[in-house]
Amino acid sequence: MSAAYPDFSSKSAALYERARRVMPGGSTRVQTFFNPYPVFAAHAEGCRVIDVDGAARIDFVNNYTVQIHGHSHPKIVEAVKKQAEQAMCFTLPTETEIELAEIFCERTASIERVRFANSGTEAVMNAIKAARAHTGRPKIAKCEGVYHGSYDYAEASLDPDPQNWGARDPAAVGYARSAPAGMLADVVVIPFNDVDASRRILEANADRLAGLLVDLVPTRCGGGPASPEYRAMLREVTRRHGIVLICDEVVTYRLDYGGAQALYGFDPDLTTLGKIIGGGMPIGAIAGKAEFMAVFDASQGKPLCPHSGTFTANPVSMAAGIVAMRMFDREAIERQNTLGAKTRAQLDEAFKVAGVTGHVTGEGSLFLPHLSDEPLGDYRKTYRAHSDAAGERAEALFRLLLNEGIYSSVLGLNCLSTPMGEAEIDRLSEAVLKCLRIIKDEAPARAVS
Ligand SMILES: Cc1ncc(COP(=O)(O)O)c(C=O)c1O
Repeated sequence: MSAAYPDFSSKSAALYERARRVMPGGSTRVQTFFNPYPVFAAHAEGCRVIDVDGAARIDFVNNYTVQIHGHSHPKIVEAVKKQAEQAMCFTLPTETEIELAEIFCERTASIERVRFANSGTEAVMNAIKAARAHTGRPKIAKCEGVYHGSYDYAEASLDPDPQNWGARDPAAVGYARSAPAGMLADVVVIPFNDVDASRRILEANADRLAGLLVDLVPTRCGGGPASPEYRAMLREVTRRHGIVLICDEVVTYRLDYGGAQALYGFDPDLTTLGKIIGGGMPIGAIAGKAEFMAVFDASQGKPLCPHSGTFTANPVSMAAGIVAMRMFDREAIERQNTLGAKTRAQLDEAFKVAGVTGHVTGEGSLFLPHLSDEPLGDYRKTYRAHSDAAGERAEALFRLLLNEGIYSSVLGLNCLSTPMGEAEIDRLSEAVLKCLRIIKDEAPARAVS
């Protein structure tokens, strides 16, 4: 590695100064920014990203779980090149979109029809619109603190705090200052994994609820799965009241051949997909049972829920996605998930050996380190567990790891990619142990359990 972080004479620091002159805050995406300046990527090789100063880091963020096969996998690159040479986009459908849709219909029992979009955000937005169109009702329910992209309704109550989250039942709180009160009036917020409270809130709003949006392994509720009782309650209440059950699998589709819903035996009406399904190209998809997807059917005139988009189902994303999904077969998933369990166990061990408070959660090939032993399990507990000292230690770990050749996500979602093997996991564990020991020495009073 040729560059330390931070280094104000580095090319990354210079690029950041240049970016500040043309972008607000020098950045065009919240997730890629960190202080005092973000590292700028130059290129990548498999699971390693090389920055503009020549430093190589193993990438455990993978563009927030997109790069399931690492970066620029030769088979995906070949498919993209071939498609780009033929054409990049048309105002005509192509066979590629049928082929990718067929893959999801084959893999997931609840998926009978598919519509493509350009991002997970768009997929969630269109699923919500579909639920409203199907039911003729206005409201949408979601779990407090859970991220579903940046559509206003989906991002309500993304980061409430004890001052505004409501005493007992969660209040619908705007994430951005731009959130209109009228929008918040149509969002019903439920506490993740609290069966009784969620049932009561859903029942009270049932006649106005179009849909319920759920992520079965929500990062911001600690990284553990929805309990079997919670999943059963959501399905039972929504079915009984004709509320469209939308499973957001933008992240979790990687957990099993048919997604998290197959792993946990969940039967949603609609599913939203994104991230891995485009092989690194922009993509999203709304999928589900034919009865619910029928609102998009334009073959008989204007549909109940018109859905379009200039780049929707562009054949380059489709071609990349087909190759990526075919390579992500049962064997690849099993290998990833086994390696994921090993990663979590080795990192837990690193916390113990270093004598630093912390542990690791996650499912399958996902892992989330927490620099706290406070209980997690829903948004409010996770919020408390991550506040103050634990948040500062997580930031410190992220920075120290940069100089150990590891790119990770602070208090967020980390994941594996198929080019990774035991060597990368061992390297991660060694680096984490080394950095935790530094954290402990620098702040013994706070860090020692
Ligand atoms: C669960 C979930 N849903 C939706 C989205 C939005 O996807 P995109 O960033 O492609 O718009 C994300 C993005 O991280 C996500 O994690």
